[in-house]
Amino acid sequence: MPACPNGLDVPAANAHIRTDMTDPSDLFAAKMAAIGFVPPELPDEPPTPEALEAADRTSRFWTSRHAGELPVGSPDHRREACRMFRETFNPYRPSIIAWPRLSPEMLQRVTSLPIWDIAVHTEGRARLRFASYAATLESPEVRDALMLNAWEENRHKEVLSNLVKTYGISLGPEPAYRAPRDPEWMYLVTGYCECIDSFFAFGLFELARRSGFFPLELVQTFEPVIQEECRHILLFANLVAWQRASLPWWRRIAFELRVGAAWIYIAWERLVLARSMKANGMGTGQDSNFTMSSAQAVTSGDVGVRDLMTLCLQENDRRFAGYDARLVRPKAIPALARLGLFLTRPWARKRRSDDAGRIDEGSPAGG
Ligand SMILES: [Fe+2]
Ligand SMILES: [Fe+2]
Repeated sequence: MPACPNGLDVPAANAHIRTDMTDPSDLFAAKMAAIGFVPPELPDEPPTPEALEAADRTSRFWTSRHAGELPVGSPDHRREACRMFRETFNPYRPSIIAWPRLSPEMLQRVTSLPIWDIAVHTEGRARLRFASYAATLESPEVRDALMLNAWEENRHKEVLSNLVKTYGISLGPEPAYRAPRDPEWMYLVTGYCECIDSFFAFGLFELARRSGFFPLELVQTFEPVIQEECRHILLFANLVAWQRASLPWWRRIAFELRVGAAWIYIAWERLVLARSMKANGMGTGQDSNFTMSSAQAVTSGDVGVRDLMTLCLQENDRRFAGYDARLVRPKAIPALARLGLFLTRPWARKRRSDDAGRIDEGSPAGG
């Protein structure tokens, strides 16, 4: 199990790290070493089906041994949130993943998805941002949990890199990753970004599984990664809730302003991303439509926005259902999706009656 030595002078240990290391992975490796993080040990051999099933169960079901309530903001709450993260760790090794052989048609589908560059860069940035924030923390248990989170982001990057190599997908050059100047700010931005991305990924992933548009083995290969993102945002939601509840009121106001600013920053960043994708001929230039074009890309059928939102909500609930109910869940994006579904009910009714009309016109009279 990973560990951070107690009493380590983290700022001093970080001081030797340069922010302009040329290899994209050097800076992250240096951060891990400076914090004293020991990466988890992983099995060398491919796991048996039983071991795979057991690891999957461990990662998705967790109940605290703590008796009684876990008041948000209490030391018990923080300790149990970190313990959840540690005890639900899934020890898969990216290099021994057996990537399935794909037919030429399947290969074309996978390689033409316009997501691989963005996905690799997102994981590369996320690992460094979580590690940088972890390095500023005094609490060994939180620092340890966030370093494991950062290490898992690096593992996601490895999984994606292996997939890209296996299927001959060509990527552009990786950007130079930089350690954030304000680690808490970037932690908040990255955490909330993950809350948004994971919510949609849950629905899109299930859509891909149901549609059979991609081979089931390939979809299953990514299952631990998707569940890991669920654990990440569960940890994030609980650490933010803990911080919120434990701050004195004057610091709480400053914190809430930061959280609000992070949401505005994310909205702005996504708008810029959507515009640049439009300029490059990817998607339609609207963020919601980028999600919808991803939905069309993982299924051969037509998917409505409301159907996709409903599926995202169902999957969100299912993926969180196995974790201790005393831990808080990410709430903002599911609440927005529910509000969107509520507000668009008149269109859903109209569509249903239009469809019924079409069926009546096409069916024999007198039925
Ligand atoms: Fe990730
Ligand atoms: Fe993550």
